[in-house]
Amino acid sequence: MGILDRFSLQGRVAVVTGGSGPQFGSSLSEGLAEAGATVICASRSLEANEKFAKGLTDKGYDAHAMTVDITDADSIQRLGEQVHERFGDVDVLVNSAVVARGGSFEEQTPEYWEFSASGNMVGLFAMSKAFLPAMAARGSGSIINISSIYGVVANDPSLYEGTDMKQPPDYTFVKAGMINFTRYLANYYGKQGVRANCICPGGYYNDQPGPFVDSYKKRVPVGRMLENDDIKGAVVFLASDASAYVTGTTLMVDGGFTTV
Ligand SMILES: NC(=O)c1ccc[n+]([C@@H]2O[C@H](COP(=O)([O-])OP(=O)(O)OC[C@H]3O[C@@H](n4cnc5c(N)ncnc54)[C@H](O)[C@@H]3O)[C@@H](O)[C@H]2O)c1
Repeated sequence: MGILDRFSLQGRVAVVTGGSGPQFGSSLSEGLAEAGATVICASRSLEANEKFAKGLTDKGYDAHAMTVDITDADSIQRLGEQVHERFGDVDVLVNSAVVARGGSFEEQTPEYWEFSASGNMVGLFAMSKAFLPAMAARGSGSIINISSIYGVVANDPSLYEGTDMKQPPDYTFVKAGMINFTRYLANYYGKQGVRANCICPGGYYNDQPGPFVDSYKKRVPVGRMLENDDIKGAVVFLASDASAYVTGTTLMVDGGFTTV
């Protein structure tokens, strides 16, 4: 098999939580679909997922919509059961959905942290339980958890000068925990053919205030913020046989942000 064939996801089934999200979610799903996978986008709004999936189907890809609320363990279990029933074996699981309401250190409350943990921590665990044991029983699978540069380094306060943007403390906590949980899964299931890796993207350009964008561009070695296509290669690599010997790793897709 040639190297380009090893990147192919033809015949593979991939579930992406938050898979129709306007920022990374949709790019992750689109990248997997472009590589040949059957992609199932799951988040709270069936309507949003259906609309997005239809857009992919219209382009000739195979995409489907389902619902899940990552703060609700029952909903996650239902998703697992329904996906297996409808699509059979799942080859790839991408945990991209995030529960985030922002807020500064002063503004966030212990109650908010419990809410954040219900989706970003308990939800991640429940998603893993809903899909990984079946992958292990079958002897293959790839799980890709979407962390962040803020799972590796803390926010640089100087980037936010001249804006009212916040540096939410719960985000750094859950994104860092996600990285080590991924290593746990890589070790726990490695001998059963399941690989687990993290992608840590840098900041996505989302019409943020000018002073932030300018400071960010100055600070990041590649001199620009992340764009949709930047994330696709990483997820296809980690989902496919091209990364058969890669597990437990943290792939920085950050334009070098964390190197300085
Ligand atoms: N945007 C960035 O700059 C950036 C940077 C680094 C990492 N990330 C990470 O990328 C991933 C995608 O985030 P994004 O910012 O690109 O947003 P996005 O555009 O992909 O949207 C987030 C998705 O999560 C879904 N979601 C929210 N709450 C949910 C819930 N309770 N149950 C199920 N789905 C839910 C939303 O419906 C949406 O589809 C996240 O894990 C985020 O932490 C984002």
